Amino acid sequence: MASFLRSFGFSYLLVVLILAIAEKSNASGYTRPIFRSGAWQLAHATFYGDQSASETMGGACGYGNLRINGYGTDTAALSSMLFNGGYACGTCYQIKCHDSPHCYTYVSFTTVTATNLCPPNWSQDSNNGGWCNPPRAHFDMSKPAFMKIADWKAGIIPVIYRRVPCVKAGGLRFAFQGNGYWLLVYVLNVAGGGDIANMWVKGTRTGWISMSHNWGASYQAFATLGGQALSFKLTSYSSKETIFAYNVAPPNWNVGLTYSSDVNFH
Ligand SMILES: *[C@@H]1O[C@H](CO)[C@@H](O)[C@H](O)[C@H]1NC(C)=O
Repeated sequence: MASFLRSFGFSYLLVVLILAIAEKSNASGYTRPIFRSGAWQLAHATFYGDQSASETMGGACGYGNLRINGYGTDTAALSSMLFNGGYACGTCYQIKCHDSPHCYTYVSFTTVTATNLCPPNWSQDSNNGGWCNPPRAHFDMSKPAFMKIADWKAGIIPVIYRRVPCVKAGGLRFAFQGNGYWLLVYVLNVAGGGDIANMWVKGTRTGWISMSHNWGASYQAFATLGGQALSFKLTSYSSKETIFAYNVAPPNWNVGLTYSSDVNFH
């Protein structure tokens, strides 16, 4: 038994060591940035909409139908302090009810994705209704997400929250809008940090064209790209990792369609 334990312990150690080395670098010695959870911080949370979460569909990030696009009903609108002009779209948070009699003690946290902005309302006091006014850190959660951590009758609860990696199945998806001279792309299903700092598009007959941030999770290029297969290059806002999604859209791509890739952030 002791020798079994010893050899089991040894091979376990070996596996852990190999995994640690594999994560740190690949054959070329390049260290791939990986998004990691942040520290817990204080904020408050309310909810909007009802249990069906239908009011939370759409939203300032532009993800459209959250069910169809894989975001589900556990989402939140962020106060502008957290929303960061839309760069926080797609980021993921663990939210824990904190120090309130309305907290459910049997659940530790709920995980939400940022899909919307909770705008300031300056006709309400920041401490009495104007919960999303700067500089407050506030989550206006979908009702289903709120109900996992506290009694909804509380209305508002103190919470602690932290950024966590977004867990996604499959690769980045690109929803196309615009016209023949203007390509507007919503980036969906972003794993890792969930956020995007910079984005470029390349047609088969162009170099890499820098895209500017439009609003929410959308990026735009004023260029004529019709009839060309399109590739994208993206840099994560949080981890700075850069990834390439080659030939995502075929030469006959069209606006109103969503194209899938097989790459994602880590
Ligand atoms: C802002 O607050 C006022 C006062 O409570 C309210 O009447 C108004 O509807 C609010 N505006 C928005 C956009 O929610």
